[in-house]
Amino acid sequence: MHPAPIKAASGLPDLTQIDALTERLDAISRRYAEHFGFDRSDSWYLLKLQEELGELTQAALKMQGQARTRGQSATDLRTTFENEFADVLGQLLLLGRHHQIDVAGAMQRKWLKWADRHERHGSFRLETERLIVRSFKLGDVDALHAYRNDPAIARYQGWSLPYSRTNAAQLVADMFELHEPLRGQWNQFAVERKDAPGLIGDVAVNLDAEGDTAEIGFTFAREHHGLGYAREAVRALLGELFGALDLRRVVAIIDERNVPALNLLEALGWRREAHFRGSYPREDGQWADELQYALLRSEYLEQL
Ligand SMILES: CC(C)(COP(=O)(O)OP(=O)(O)OC[C@H]1O[C@@H](n2cnc3c(N)ncnc32)[C@H](O)[C@@H]1OP(=O)(O)O)[C@@H](O)C(=O)NCCC(=O)NCCS
Repeated sequence: MHPAPIKAASGLPDLTQIDALTERLDAISRRYAEHFGFDRSDSWYLLKLQEELGELTQAALKMQGQARTRGQSATDLRTTFENEFADVLGQLLLLGRHHQIDVAGAMQRKWLKWADRHERHGSFRLETERLIVRSFKLGDVDALHAYRNDPAIARYQGWSLPYSRTNAAQLVADMFELHEPLRGQWNQFAVERKDAPGLIGDVAVNLDAEGDTAEIGFTFAREHHGLGYAREAVRALLGELFGALDLRRVVAIIDERNVPALNLLEALGWRREAHFRGSYPREDGQWADELQYALLRSEYLEQL
């Protein structure tokens, strides 16, 4: 006999067996509630799950020798732990059923998308003459923390100072081994020199919900400025956005005082298309103007 497939043709995991199990559990739970004459309210589903979790915790502590076992054998302790696990899982499935949770969809969004991406493509990676643009990894936290905390780097950016190490670790965790820019959110990718390993900066892509247009950003540690690294990384990113991802239009919105960033975009042939007056809060409480630059795919292709 072949094992059941884990994915349906639609790309969602096939959870039909879990759905069938949930229906059977619900019938048992309903009869139980009727028998004892209580209402399975919103709060009951949650509180019952808490109760079961407490019992599972107790069983685990006993099994690990961290609670009184009252002379139960190792086998009995293990069986109790398994039984409590079944109670937690059953009650969790009932909670999901009560709230009509699309378990397959939620599983795909929260867990399986990572497996799918790794199985299909591995993580993000672009190579230029001197650089590698790649997905973030855990070893990047310290360097990211250091340059994001530099007032000269943060000056025209959206984060506030001090920028904690926890913030840096969270960003790396959110972007960890990202395979490609995800729609409807900012995505950060790490930049590393080929000749000297270690994070020197990052490029960012905010892809729209349709995957048609994007806004980009770029940030490099001060000691790596003035060498053309940012330019080289952004050029590679554009190649990916207009190439593999087939975007139609890319924009960047820059504080008008941020001359190095404006120079970078102009050097790469971007078109200034909008001037927003007083659109960005300045560090001194005043409002800064921002300039919007854009590049259409057709414009990008003409420049190649
Ligand atoms: C914006 C930012 C990335 C630009 O950095 P940068 O190092 O000036 O950018 P580039 O990679 O384009 O480098 C250009 C400089 O390197 C020089 N250069 C040296 N070698 C080069 C090479 N091989 N190729 C190209 N340029 C080279 C260029 O002449 C230019 O020097 P100049 O500024 O004296 O004219 C940087 O200022 C930064 O990180 N700022 C903080 C974050 C920020 O505000 N980002 C923008 C908003 S998203």
